[in-house]
Amino acid sequence: MLESGQLVMLLNSKGKRYFISAKEGQVMHSNEGVLDLDAVREAGWGHQVCTHKGHPFTVLRPTLYDLIKSVKRRTQIIYPKEIGYIVMKLGIGPGCRIVEAGCGSGGLTTALAWLVGDTGKVYTYERREEFFTLCRENLERIGLAHRVEQFHHDIAQGFHSHGADALFLDVREPCDYIQHIPAAVVPGAPIGFLLPTTNQVQELLKALEHGPFCQVEVLEIFLRHYKPVPERLRPEDRMVAHTGFLVFARTYSELEQQKPEESIA
Ligand SMILES: C[S@@+](CC[C@H](N)C(=O)[O-])C[C@H]1O[C@@H](n2cnc3c(N)ncnc32)[C@H](O)[C@@H]1O
Repeated sequence: MLESGQLVMLLNSKGKRYFISAKEGQVMHSNEGVLDLDAVREAGWGHQVCTHKGHPFTVLRPTLYDLIKSVKRRTQIIYPKEIGYIVMKLGIGPGCRIVEAGCGSGGLTTALAWLVGDTGKVYTYERREEFFTLCRENLERIGLAHRVEQFHHDIAQGFHSHGADALFLDVREPCDYIQHIPAAVVPGAPIGFLLPTTNQVQELLKALEHGPFCQVEVLEIFLRHYKPVPERLRPEDRMVAHTGFLVFARTYSELEQQKPEESIA
């Protein structure tokens, strides 16, 4: 029996996904009829339940991938193929504290909040109120809002001194803000950026040369799906050819200048 309020993914026979918090005594309305959420809780993971019209829904525990795909979006979100590499490069895991800007619809924020666990924290900055609110709603819907501290704040004015373990920027002009990065993270922290054009990557690389940044890496990630038909196994006709370029680096703390009287003889 699933707990009351458990977030479930309900899959209809056409593969359409519904996300709902299965609360005691409630029902879900769909085009295929009314589904009793107590019956969903009783059925449990991997089982099927029928609507009052007899249409089956499969009860599934949503994965992080499902949750990111379910984010209600009014901005471009970062896709799972990039998120997977980003979280590995930034070393995100339980207990980690990470700074992010802008939160937009909260695609990356969802993944970060999921991975840092209850002992970690995501500090996310967003200058536009509508996206700040949308991100909060998306996180509340999946029960992860308590792991995220949101700032309705333009990072042109800098970050708070979080002493964070890592930082990621998905903003239009990251070069304008890189001087603020060292104050937000611990020395040596991994940092990353997502940029849509090569021109922006070039500008960022030049800017990184003038700051305490090392280990710079630039890449993009391609993902090609296959038609899952055993007799005619071949790639899908279409693929998303471009989502963005990723840039990673590490911060470092520059040697403090020794005064002559302090120097070692
Ligand atoms: C592409 S969206 C981020 C999408 C997000 N990474 C996701 O996965 O859903 C970029 C966001 O950055 C915000 N932004 C741009 N410049 C900013 C700044 N200087 N300070 C704070 N937020 C900023 C924009 O308002 C926008 O919501």
